[in-house]
Amino acid sequence: MDIINIAIDGPAGAGKSTIAKKIAKELDIIYVDTGAMYRAFGLYCIRNNISSNQNDIINNILNDIDISICYIDGEQQVILNDENVNQFIRDEEVGKMASEISVNKNVRLKLVELQRNLATKKSIVMDGRDIGTYVLPNATTKIYLNASVETRAKRRHKELLEKGISRNLESIEDEIGKRDYRDMNREFAPLKKADDAIEVDTSNLSIDEVVNKILKMINNNY
Ligand code: DC
Repeated sequence: MDIINIAIDGPAGAGKSTIAKKIAKELDIIYVDTGAMYRAFGLYCIRNNISSNQNDIINNILNDIDISICYIDGEQQVILNDENVNQFIRDEEVGKMASEISVNKNVRLKLVELQRNLATKKSIVMDGRDIGTYVLPNATTKIYLNASVETRAKRRHKELLEKGISRNLESIEDEIGKRDYRDMNREFAPLKKADDAIEVDTSNLSIDEVVNKILKMINNNY
C-alpha cells in the first residue's frame, strides 16, 4: 500500500488527539502527536530555568537537545535526551511553555525535520498546529478540527474534575483564549486552516460522529 499522511490541525482542546488516535487505530497506521515534542522541549526549558523569551539561550541549546519518539503498547512515548518524559509533559505549565517556545523558528525547524522524517517512512495520522500548512503540505487528507472556546474550556474543566482537580471555568477559558492567540499569531508557521483542509466543528458532535465523518473523507481521497 502507498504511504498515506493524514494531517489534523486545530486549536487546543478541539479533540485532535482523541480523534487522531481513533482514526489511526481504524486504519491500522501510526499516530504522531507533534504537540508532545514541543512539550518535551518546553519541559527541558522549565527544568533548566530557561524562560521562553531567552531566545539566544534557546538557540544555543538546540544541539544539546535530542527529542525522538517510540511506541510502547501502541502509545507514543517522547524521549528527551534518553529519558522517557511522557509522564511529565501533560501539566498546564508545560503546555503553556510549549506554546511559548514554539514561537521560536529554530525550535520549530528542528522538530519539523523529525516530523517530516517520520512521515516519509510510514503511513501516519499526525496532529498539531501546522501539519497541513507547513509540515506536510502534500498530505493525503487535511482536517482542521475546531470547537468554540466555551466548549473547549468546558471539556478541559470536566477532564480536570475527573482527575480530582477543581478549576474555575472562566480562568480555563482565559488560558485557552491566550494560547489560541499565541498559536495563531506567531510569525512562523502559525495555526491556521490550510486552504485545502476540511474544517470539522466538533462542538456538537460525539467523538464517534467526528471519527466516522473523517473516515468517510479519507476513504474518498484514496
Ligand atoms: O497540542 P498540544 O496542546 O500538546 O500543543 C502544545 C503546544 O505546542 C501548542 O500550544 C503549540 C505547540 N505546537 C505547535 O506549535 N505546533 C505543533 N505542530 C504542535 C504543537
